[in-house]
Amino acid sequence: MDDSTLRFTSSLEVDAALGYYDVMGSLAHVKMLKKCNIIPKGDADAIATGLKKIAEEMESGEFEIDDSLEDIHTCVEFRLTEIVGPGGGKLHTGRSRNDQVSTDFRMFLRDAVLEMVEKIERLRMGLIEVAENNSGSIMPGFTHMQHAQPVTLAHHLMAYVFKFGRDSERLIESYERINECPLGSAALAGTTFPIDRKMTAESLGFKKPTENSMDSVSDRDFAAEMAFCSALLADHLSSLSEELVLWSSQEFGFIEMDDRYSTGSSIMPQKKNPDIAELIRGRSGSAIGHLVSVLTMLKGLPLTYNRDMQEDKRPVIDSLQSVADCVDMMYKMVTTMKVDTKRMEEAVGKGQINATDLADYLVTKGVPFREAHGIVGAAVRHCISGGLRLEEVPLADLKKFSDRIEEDVYDVISVRRCVERRNSYGGTSPSSVALQIENARASVEEKMNFVTYESQVYERCWSRLLG
Ligand code: ARG
Repeated sequence: MDDSTLRFTSSLEVDAALGYYDVMGSLAHVKMLKKCNIIPKGDADAIATGLKKIAEEMESGEFEIDDSLEDIHTCVEFRLTEIVGPGGGKLHTGRSRNDQVSTDFRMFLRDAVLEMVEKIERLRMGLIEVAENNSGSIMPGFTHMQHAQPVTLAHHLMAYVFKFGRDSERLIESYERINECPLGSAALAGTTFPIDRKMTAESLGFKKPTENSMDSVSDRDFAAEMAFCSALLADHLSSLSEELVLWSSQEFGFIEMDDRYSTGSSIMPQKKNPDIAELIRGRSGSAIGHLVSVLTMLKGLPLTYNRDMQEDKRPVIDSLQSVADCVDMMYKMVTTMKVDTKRMEEAVGKGQINATDLADYLVTKGVPFREAHGIVGAAVRHCISGGLRLEEVPLADLKKFSDRIEEDVYDVISVRRCVERRNSYGGTSPSSVALQIENARASVEEKMNFVTYESQVYERCWSRLLG
């Protein structure tokens, strides 16, 4: 092979990240080969000892990656034969790199999911705490970026807690599909050796072996799913970032970022820039791009393995890494930012934000909603031309728009009451938001338990394989 061919075809730079999983997969495989009497016990034991040594080398950072080799799987096998001699070559009986690559990648992604879910849940907890401290902080709620109805900051932040909750959920659902073991599918058609796929699947902590060997070596649905989960999570982070950028501007002034998580300008001494939020917003670009890369790479591939598929790892690993960093930084930003409740309340005073409540009031007095909408529209125009807020208009003037309006209107259209009275399930009233917080806390706990439980499964697997 020409040097340029090696350089062009190598995946080592990226798949080195799979090294430890490759050793675990090989350990499970050799134990199975031994138990099924496929290779002599002496060779199997020597191979297992060699693989354990490689695992130690990887953990201590001594394992040397030989970049004259094509990928990490070849590196591990090469090092193994260095340690145990030609008998090491018996490890590759009844398997192929095609099933091996997919098995390793799945193991890598299982851990990546657990790590990501843990990070997301930490962010959710952080947001829940900020929400709890701001259950009475009233701010404008927007549609079309226009003042719509008053809400609380708690309600607004809890919206993201539920968005991120779905991101966790999606990862956990994908995890169920990742967690099937292709090992033993061999190159594509299975093998003539009497292997025990259930045994290898079980010893690597997989739920079960995959069903069809041709599907197994050509399936990268799980990689595409990971890219999608990352991209949508990145979109959610990007929206929140956009709001943080807006809110920290002079025009809004709702929040101030902590100095640790903002930057200055090289020329304008007064500047405090929300660069972290901007970078998170910007990085959604690569997460979305990576999703498109994976889907495009897979499109139209004939069965079964094709070398194109080697291109799956870089985008997926990069997305996961970059989005995980974004989640961490978001956590730090939101849990340290200062909230200016006065500025938020001042903002609520603009834009006749309680107009819907006046219309609803008229409805309770028997006016059909469409008519009420028109009446309030006229009252709003009156307010705009007179520079008044609806609740500042004297009763006698309000009555000119509708004689159904009475003294009790002022309680209904006070901004605080607008919030308090929206106590429908999921609404913005403090009591509704308190329930959202309670439910979200339970969901955080459930997901954290999932992470703990699954992590323990793998710890047990690895210690059994290494024991
Ligand atoms: N480096 C390759 C990959 O990551 C290994 C698979 C090789 N299989 C093959 N048939 N050439 O996909």
